[in-house]
Amino acid sequence: MFEEYFRLFKDFILDLLKVLVKSRVAVAGAVVAGLVLPVLLFSVFLDLRGVVKNPYFGFLIYMVMGPLFVAGLATVVVGLLLFRDKEEIGVYALEYIREQMAMPGRFIRVRKMIYLSSFLTFMTLLVIGVVSYTGFTYTESVRFCGQFCHTVMEPEYITYQNSAHSRVPCVDCHIGANAGGFTKSKVTGIKMIFATLFNRFDRPIATPIASLRPTREVCEQCHRPEKFHGDKLYVKDGYLPDEANTHVQTILLMRVGSGGYRGQVAQGIHWHVSANHHTYYQEDPEQPGVISQIKLVDHDGAVVIYQRGDNSKPNGTGRPGYKLMDCLDCHNRPTHVFLSPDEALDTKISTGVIPPELPFVKKLGLELVQRPYGGKDQARRQIAEGVEAWYGQNYPELKRSAPQQLNQAAAGMFQAWSENVFPEMKISWRTYGSKLGHRDNTGCFRCHTSELVSREGRTISHDCNLCHVVLADRQPSPDIMRILQGNRVAGVLSSSGGSL
Ligand code: HEC
Ligand code: HEC
Ligand code: HEC
Ligand code: HEC
Ligand code: HEC
Repeated sequence: MFEEYFRLFKDFILDLLKVLVKSRVAVAGAVVAGLVLPVLLFSVFLDLRGVVKNPYFGFLIYMVMGPLFVAGLATVVVGLLLFRDKEEIGVYALEYIREQMAMPGRFIRVRKMIYLSSFLTFMTLLVIGVVSYTGFTYTESVRFCGQFCHTVMEPEYITYQNSAHSRVPCVDCHIGANAGGFTKSKVTGIKMIFATLFNRFDRPIATPIASLRPTREVCEQCHRPEKFHGDKLYVKDGYLPDEANTHVQTILLMRVGSGGYRGQVAQGIHWHVSANHHTYYQEDPEQPGVISQIKLVDHDGAVVIYQRGDNSKPNGTGRPGYKLMDCLDCHNRPTHVFLSPDEALDTKISTGVIPPELPFVKKLGLELVQRPYGGKDQARRQIAEGVEAWYGQNYPELKRSAPQQLNQAAAGMFQAWSENVFPEMKISWRTYGSKLGHRDNTGCFRCHTSELVSREGRTISHDCNLCHVVLADRQPSPDIMRILQGNRVAGVLSSSGGSL
């Protein structure tokens, strides 16, 4: 039985070859497909088992070998249909089958051949299916988005890894769940690959990219702003640029609020995203980022228009560019969080990466990380030299007694720099600013300002207690901390080994 099938298989292949050799194009296609297939199957196997981690490996399998295999098969078909000597393939096949059927005892053989060829076709489709499915998954992976175009995506990838969303795949945010978002993003993606290949992309990458801007629905798959209730305490550690690197704390009672839920009214910061009222705004076309008009549609339908300058008559309402406020108007950097030099160094000191006991280490760090460097190697070398030189001059005894700590400080400063500055992409400190607070008038104060006035003379409040209560502002050992910690013995609960 087995032998018979084997013989049939051999005959089938031989017959197939006979047909194939009538077209050189088909032979070429078959050779390519035949050579690629075993390598392809083995690579897919390795990839599915996660053996090879290199991002280019996936590219090789799904973007090069997969299409090559399919192209090989397609060439066989095209070759047989279009280039095979004079005969028409359809006629040939029919004739062949008729001939075979006419022979005595051949009927069963032909039936088996049909089974065999169906089986082979099925296997081919299966291979194509598996390769396209895994290929699709590959283009959706963090590996592809974040690492493939290494230099281009490095800043976004590194900041992403350091953020609260480091386990959320890039595509969960950047590709909407609907088909429109999907096609748009794939088109944008392909354009980006070409832009990278031909080295034609913006440095830094412009933001926002309209087609990749996450929508409110995307965030709300995981977050429900109507559920964030009440106030929340934010404690932030910092260090002064003095000899002792004095540990200070900023403590804010943040009015996180909620969008209203089960009869509760919307209040606090997330009042903006309630379903009951809508805040539209428009930017000044001449000054991007400056809001020139706000239209507030209240829960009862009442409309208030706040405007810059002459507000006797509303202008431009309903013009293109009028936008409904959403999460990203405040959380524009939920994951690609670029810190300021101050924050970056504070984080490294508070986690002990930079030893806080080195005198003036914060001050020196601020100076060294803000110097312009051409690239990573140069930065690493010159920061290390800077640390060595400064302590050599000002604290020579430290250079002798604690060389290890100096190396550690230099490495920590370099880390702070390399997580936020990317010279290849022309990203320096604060290239991408956050809209979440009011550091440089790019955040809440774009609207919460007395410059936008309604016809009735109303403005949007910028009272310091509207959004938060400032309990301490870069204060050493704030009293409030003692209360928050239940008057415990000093130092026990200090968040980062400070002098509480
Ligand atoms: C939590 C959601 C989220 C995740 C996850 C995410 N991004 Fe983003 N990304 C954003 C937002 C929001 C913006 C800014 C959009 C804006 O300003 O309109 C952005 C902007 C970008 C930009 C434009 C340049 C810039 O920095 O503004 C690139 C490129 C980018 N992301 C790549 C990636 C890559 C690669 C990954 C995965 C490694 C990723 N993103 C993961 C939300 C996300
Ligand atoms: C797939 C789920 C998912 C999506 C989509 C998502 N997030 Fe998150 N987000 C999380 C998780 C989980 C955390 C908490 C992580 C932690 O605390 O370790 C988080 C934390 C946050 C925080 C707390 C801030 C911080 O840095 O600690 C904010 C703000 C936030 N997300 C905003 C957003 C915004 C805005 C979007 C849409 C662009 C979004 N998220 C999309 C899952 C998600
Ligand atoms: C008006 C600006 C603004 C808008 C609009 C906004 N947020 Fe926030 N959100 C804040 C601020 C400010 C905080 C608190 C400060 C911080 O996280 O640093 C916050 C906190 C959060 C947190 C952390 C909450 C917690 O309890 O720890 C999440 C998650 C979040 N926002 C998600 C969202 C989502 C999702 C949307 C859109 C539906 C949204 N926010 C819209 C300003 C805003
Ligand atoms: C696009 C304009 C705009 C931006 C940006 C904006 N707001 Fe508002 N905000 C408004 C408007 C409009 C009101 C309602 C004012 C009124 O009712 O008079 C408001 C009201 C508020 C309120 C009071 C809500 C209540 O309980 O009634 C808080 C709190 C608030 N905003 C916080 C913030 C914070 C924090 C940010 C920055 C992260 C921010 N806003 C950014 C437009 C804006
Ligand atoms: C419209 C809302 C709003 C108003 C009004 C407002 N703030 Fe803030 N403020 C914020 C938000 C949001 C943050 C948090 C930013 C962040 O999470 O990084 C913040 C952060 C701060 C911080 C801490 C900065 C840091 O990260 O070290 C201080 C200090 C502060 N505000 C002081 C003030 C003072 C003083 C006023 C009155 C002039 C004021 N704020 C008015 C929204 C507001």
